Amino acid sequence: NKVGVVIAAAGQGKRMGHNINKQFLPLLGKPILYYTIQSFADWGKAAEIVIVLNSKEIDYFKNKIQPLFSYSAQKTLSLVSGGNSRKESVYNGITSLSDNINYVLIHDGARPLIEKSLIESTYQAVKEHKAVSCGVKVKDTIKLVEDSISKQTLNRDKLRAIQTPQAFDLDLIKKAHHEYQKETALDDASLVELLGKNVYIVDGDYNNLKITTAEDLKPAEVILKERK
Ligand code: CTP
Ligand code: MG
Repeated sequence: NKVGVVIAAAGQGKRMGHNINKQFLPLLGKPILYYTIQSFADWGKAAEIVIVLNSKEIDYFKNKIQPLFSYSAQKTLSLVSGGNSRKESVYNGITSLSDNINYVLIHDGARPLIEKSLIESTYQAVKEHKAVSCGVKVKDTIKLVEDSISKQTLNRDKLRAIQTPQAFDLDLIKKAHHEYQKETALDDASLVELLGKNVYIVDGDYNNLKITTAEDLKPAEVILKERK
């Protein structure tokens, strides 16, 4: 079995409201994207790690981030240009993997706190289930609201906040992307759901934050400091 990793890092980070892409902002002195990639390099089982970047940021990555990795880690990295949506970026990533790859783990560049143990449990699950996503139980009560009126209170026990990594049999996720090319705003797992296939949910990690707005930077630094 050969496994590849696709790290989607071609977004614009608009909600961060910063003049440089959020993924290049530092946490404890190192760029967010550095931590994300290093976690997968440390895991050690990926034959290839594809980083999907905005084409305008590829040179920046080569000059400022790539040199932070060991020579052996750098050998597994390849760089691909992203698209206008996360879905297009992921598509560019998965279609660039070598033919001999069986499984792919897809992860957000903006989730730098991913731990080896969660990467491993996702990988073990995909070998059995072919389509896997991480998710955590929601802590809040979630209501369906229309025009400021609560229409329904959803059963919290059945709700999961979905994270990455999501992992797939490579042929299956390619097929899902081809078939549902025009669907928008869906995660990779939901494309597989549209094919009528089950997506197995593994327990994610509340600390596996997605860095989205400026408030997310401080808690991320606290978690990183704790780990050191
Ligand atoms: N992503 C991508 N290509 C896109 C859009 C998003 O590879 N065209 C990636 C982002 O780089 C990020 C991940 O998908 O690592 C999750 O997306 P999100 O957190 O929404 O990041 P951005 O789209 O960059 O942020 P925003 O929505 O605030 O602009
Ligand atoms: Mg976005």
